[in-house]
Amino acid sequence: MWKFVLPFVALLATFSDGQTINKEVGSFQQFECDVNFPSTYLLNWMRGDEIVIRYLSANDAITATSANFTGRVSIIGAQRTLGITSLRITDAGQFFCSVHDLATVNDETNSARQTLFVYTRPTVTLPYSEYVVDAGGDVTFTCTVTSYPSSNVTWEHPDGTRSTGDVLRLRNATSQSQGQYRCSADNGFGTGMQYVNLVVRGGNISS
Ligand SMILES: *[C@@H]1O[C@H](CO)[C@@H](O)[C@H](O)[C@H]1NC(C)=O
Ligand SMILES: *[C@@H]1O[C@H](CO)[C@@H](O)[C@H](O)[C@H]1NC(C)=O
Ligand SMILES: *[C@@H]1O[C@H](CO)[C@@H](O)[C@H](O)[C@H]1NC(C)=O
Repeated sequence: MWKFVLPFVALLATFSDGQTINKEVGSFQQFECDVNFPSTYLLNWMRGDEIVIRYLSANDAITATSANFTGRVSIIGAQRTLGITSLRITDAGQFFCSVHDLATVNDETNSARQTLFVYTRPTVTLPYSEYVVDAGGDVTFTCTVTSYPSSNVTWEHPDGTRSTGDVLRLRNATSQSQGQYRCSADNGFGTGMQYVNLVVRGGNISS
């Protein structure tokens, strides 16, 4: 009978695992250890297969910390909440606490897994804020974007038309090419933009 019940319970635990938590680089995240604690236990806060931090209740002490999290992790309060400061992109993963009852051999209780994703907002840089070209000349503007995950980059022309990609090439500039060009970046977690003003010299000769 129990042989059939236990896999079912394990399946329920899988389904109850939470959705992804998105956090900005540098911010703080905490995870709750929602299990019942035995009287003496060893607690491992896990990220996948990695032991992030280990706590021994008998000593009321941290006994190990992963080098990936040195100086940035702590165990907070009676519920043994995991706190991570100064989040890094590489901190992403599946976190859960694993509690071993030291009075009972092989008795281990895991909390539900919570998935962490760490992002940065786009920052946009352009080499010029104004650029002068002679009529008939060619112009190339390259928009440099840093973000995680990567961004979709769009150039908006003075007439409102848009082109995708970080590099904008204009051939045979005319007076109609003049005005503000805007580079925008969007990675789903934030947007960034910068402007460059194009001046076309001698652009009215034909009129
Ligand atoms: C530290 O993090 C890296 C990248 O996520 C991982 O490959 C490595 O296994 C981690 N270290 C330990 C001790 O798990
Ligand atoms: C450049 O634009 C001008 C004005 O529209 C036009 O007369 C000329 O033929 C164009 N030159 C080239 C090489 O496309
Ligand atoms: C980037 O562009 C692709 C293709 O058009 C689209 O599927 C995706 O949702 C866009 N991402 C963002 C963050 O706007």
